Amino acid sequence: MTSPAPDLFAAARATRAHSHSPYSGFKVGAAIRSESGRIHAGCNVENAAYPQGQCAEATAIGLMVASGDRRITEIVVVGGDAGSGVMCTPCGGCRQRIREFAGPDTPIHIYDAGEYRRTFTLEELLPFSFGPDNLGF
Ligand code: THU
Repeated sequence: MTSPAPDLFAAARATRAHSHSPYSGFKVGAAIRSESGRIHAGCNVENAAYPQGQCAEATAIGLMVASGDRRITEIVVVGGDAGSGVMCTPCGGCRQRIREFAGPDTPIHIYDAGEYRRTFTLEELLPFSFGPDNLGF
């Protein structure tokens, strides 16, 4: 299937190769396009103290913020094995992290290692969410 975001997919796949995931063996790459048009790509970074591990989406969000951007316009997540039939959708914590910087219609494209699978909006993945607007921001 044709990729809806070939440049983001390429960035996420390239960064996925750098994943530090010796404990799970599950490599994930995430690439964000932000309001400036720049791409911020990160991988998961696991730790021998397991709870200290970080998801690929969190790495990418940190890089976006550190670059000075604040709005996510599109995201690609690449994880798992091609043809495994299992989609690497963002975990609950990362859905909330994305919520901080994205709107309800922001597309989140899911790939397994080599193949486009499906696009969700943030609203679909995190309905009735709590965000900055709930605090008046
Ligand atoms: N992981 C991500 O990086 N992103 C996701 O969306 C789901 C899970 C990572 C966390 C951990 O390093 C490994 O995948 C297995 O859970």
